[in-house]
Amino acid sequence: MIEEMEGTDEEGLWRVEPLCSVAELDDFEHLSRLLDRPRIKIERKLSFDERSLSELSGNLRLVDDMYSPAVGRSVLDTPASSARDWFEPHGPHPMIAEAWDALRRSIVLFRRQPVGTMAAIEHASEEVLNYDQVFVRDFVPSALAFLMNGEPDIVKNFLLKTLLLQSWEKKIDRFKLGEGVLPASFKVNHDPARKSETLIADFGGSAIGRVAPVDSGFWWIILLRAYTKSTGDLSLAETPECQRGMRLILSLCLSEGFDTFPTLLCADGCSMIDRRMGVYGYPIEIQSLFFMALRCALAMLKPDAEGEEFIERIVQRLRALGYHMRSYFWLDFQQLNDIYCYKTEEYSHTAVNKFNVIPDSIPDWIFDFMPSRGGYFVGNVSPARMDFRWFALGNCIAILSSLATPEQSVAIMDLIEGRWEELVGEMPLKIAYPALEGHEWRSVTGCDPKNTRWSYHNGGSWPVLLWLLTAACIKTGRPQIARKAIDLAESRLSKDGWPEYYDGKLGRYIGKQARKYQTWSIAGYLVAKMMLEDPSHLGMISLEEEKGKKRVIKRSASWTA
Ligand code: GLC
Repeated sequence: MIEEMEGTDEEGLWRVEPLCSVAELDDFEHLSRLLDRPRIKIERKLSFDERSLSELSGNLRLVDDMYSPAVGRSVLDTPASSARDWFEPHGPHPMIAEAWDALRRSIVLFRRQPVGTMAAIEHASEEVLNYDQVFVRDFVPSALAFLMNGEPDIVKNFLLKTLLLQSWEKKIDRFKLGEGVLPASFKVNHDPARKSETLIADFGGSAIGRVAPVDSGFWWIILLRAYTKSTGDLSLAETPECQRGMRLILSLCLSEGFDTFPTLLCADGCSMIDRRMGVYGYPIEIQSLFFMALRCALAMLKPDAEGEEFIERIVQRLRALGYHMRSYFWLDFQQLNDIYCYKTEEYSHTAVNKFNVIPDSIPDWIFDFMPSRGGYFVGNVSPARMDFRWFALGNCIAILSSLATPEQSVAIMDLIEGRWEELVGEMPLKIAYPALEGHEWRSVTGCDPKNTRWSYHNGGSWPVLLWLLTAACIKTGRPQIARKAIDLAESRLSKDGWPEYYDGKLGRYIGKQARKYQTWSIAGYLVAKMMLEDPSHLGMISLEEEKGKKRVIKRSASWTA
């Protein structure tokens, strides 16, 4: 379904045409005024974790005041970072300037303001499909790059613009979607004759499979916190509009129903993996993002009449969700061995095999893949069904949100290190492991020709995931893993034209339908570089362990390796 909002830019005033209600206009003007508020100069305060990380990182640490946010820069300026001495033995890598240039070329303007970045800037050979749109999830690494470079305005505009899109009435066929749903993507239509610009948003109504993105709302909340944390500007998150936006997103996922699990039940294709891939049920990607968004919202919601109730519900849900995930989604050698020996058909409270997982359903590959040291959160847990596949995004977000305990975080990194060839190969990072083949591919994907084995969502390698891997490495005190991964990316990414994804067991081949100059491949690289150079950036997208649970993270043996 396509939603439209129209307006005409005349002397800076917007005449809004019938599709946009008066309420929307008022909102827009109110929010636009917010954009012009004097900016606050912020003093960066390093949290405990950030401080200890900076201290730990030894020669990685740069003087923090070099990174006081250069608030007020324009996104069209040269990157602040190019003026700095990058932490590179031979000076800044030439790919950095190229990446910034490409990132800036992807910027989308609406009413002369930058509001996001389009998914890919080169659509030469293939049809455009929807790659000329601003995807909410794709914009996250772009936003982080701009924030890290002291350019928060585009992020603020994006947050406000998507908030307005949220307020549209959303219908697919005759069915009305929940009020809080945020779009998967939007684009600006220019009509030179009428001197007008039109916004078109996709809430899933145009997407393949017609699935609404569950991840968009979570990313929006996570990004609002990143913006707040990076700029110190609390005023945006405190606006009634942002508070309401958060509450609307939360009411979608905190509502009571028939659920017996605290995890969030989803349709296939409702997140980064937006095609049928057997990720329906309780996919790890959504559960990790849900956990992180709840924690971010908790930090930003005002305890006023309306917020109070949500705060209470969040606290309870976090407790249950954390327990459920850490207990039932966690898999290591010991746990695998326990499942292998499970009895079935157990009834009542004393059941050990609570979900009645049949040991025969454990796939063969996992027995060799599971190292004696290491572990991960499996792809999915539901009645009699465990999806043993490893998914990169969910596991990295589990580390960043502290859904993973410190021990589990270390184990996830141990697994990545121990299974480097399988998970990283020649291009970081596999979106999922292993690929589905043959009969399984036919039945699970519905014979999807884009998702053949070791391609695209089915075991393909996605450079965008580099930023998540790097953040997880820094958080667990293992930057050398990130450095190794970045080296791999640097040997090919620019030469290959910044593809969307790579194919093959080792990720050696440019994806058969990969876009070139894919924005999040570009932004992901920049974010990874900037975080490694200044680990204090990590605070934007990382949450410390919940209070009362704090333990010391042991320095890993491979820290200095
Ligand atoms: C593909 C990806 C999705 C991404 C979009 C735009 O549909 O599966 O995750 O957001 O492309 O890059």
